[in-house]
Amino acid sequence: MHDILFISDSIPRSIDRASLISRAFNTQILPPKNVNACQLKAASIVVYDLVLDVETNVVHIRDALEQCQTVVVFFSSGNKLEKKQAEALKGARLVDRTHPLNILLSEMNTILRRTKRKTTLQDAMQLVDEAAASFEDICLSTVLGAPLPLDKLENATDTVSGTLAKYSLTNFLGSLQGYHSHTTRHTLLVATVAAEFCTRLNLSDDIRELLISGAIVHDIGKTQIPLAILDKPAKLSDSEMELVRTHPRHGYRILQKNPKLDDRIKILALEHHEYLDGSGYPDGKVEKDLCLEVRILTICDIYSALIEKRSYKPPLSHNEAIRILDSMGGKLDQRLLAEFKKIMRPAPGFATVRAKAAG
Ligand SMILES: [Fe+2]
Repeated sequence: MHDILFISDSIPRSIDRASLISRAFNTQILPPKNVNACQLKAASIVVYDLVLDVETNVVHIRDALEQCQTVVVFFSSGNKLEKKQAEALKGARLVDRTHPLNILLSEMNTILRRTKRKTTLQDAMQLVDEAAASFEDICLSTVLGAPLPLDKLENATDTVSGTLAKYSLTNFLGSLQGYHSHTTRHTLLVATVAAEFCTRLNLSDDIRELLISGAIVHDIGKTQIPLAILDKPAKLSDSEMELVRTHPRHGYRILQKNPKLDDRIKILALEHHEYLDGSGYPDGKVEKDLCLEVRILTICDIYSALIEKRSYKPPLSHNEAIRILDSMGGKLDQRLLAEFKKIMRPAPGFATVRAKAAG
């Protein structure tokens, strides 16, 4: 299920709006002829970018207004007929195509947050919601080119840290599974696993907080990569993979804009795909270049990706994930990996944990 259903009769005309919205939200983009009633009802927000002086398009939107809670309609104020048609669509939220999108995106974020909160009643889930909301605000600021909101990062860090103190890791992981956006889910999962790992390693509170904050923004550069690629339900082509591999540099550039942000957090975003044997990216750094915090984050990031369900793969069990980490040999810090294996309890797969928590 997607949060936003973006319906367009001309992708070349809609491309700017569609790509900005799909970078910020979990979005499906379809032409009107391919949309069915189930998709309309399932989406939290339906966005129409159609030529409004075509009668069939207006009829399509009227039908949607009867079935959907929130309908956004783009129109051109310079086109008198289109403007008149738009104004006749009672209940729709009208947006001039020529106006900046930032206010609309903020409103969409608020609507989505309200929708998600309605469906999550347990305390642990509400706390996960808070962390997710802060993370999504961070992503939105990034998509809009605004500076990283440090207060939101602190809030998300405190929430992850506090939630783990109050609830078990299993509860937290179970609550996370409800998030549709794989980046939100993955980010909070990595932050949670990293926090747990730091606690078990008896590292200082300073390093633990640094790892949680670093994990929350480690993939922030992915806001620059289209979701169609990130969520592609198949193997990526070489050029798509190359694009995905730009995310650590994008992340570093985004975080560099905020001089108040701890430099160690910027390094975590830049180096979390580097390996000790020099085979990682983006710079092919080697063991001597990579600090303890980066080595910890890399293990937590890979482990989390393996136990998560993705559009192109099912979730792996803890044991299967550990087997893959073992097979990576000299890429990972072997002493840390040995500790990770000792202290991260063999648990059911991520998807199974969800079923238990819900029950
Ligand atoms: Fe990454």
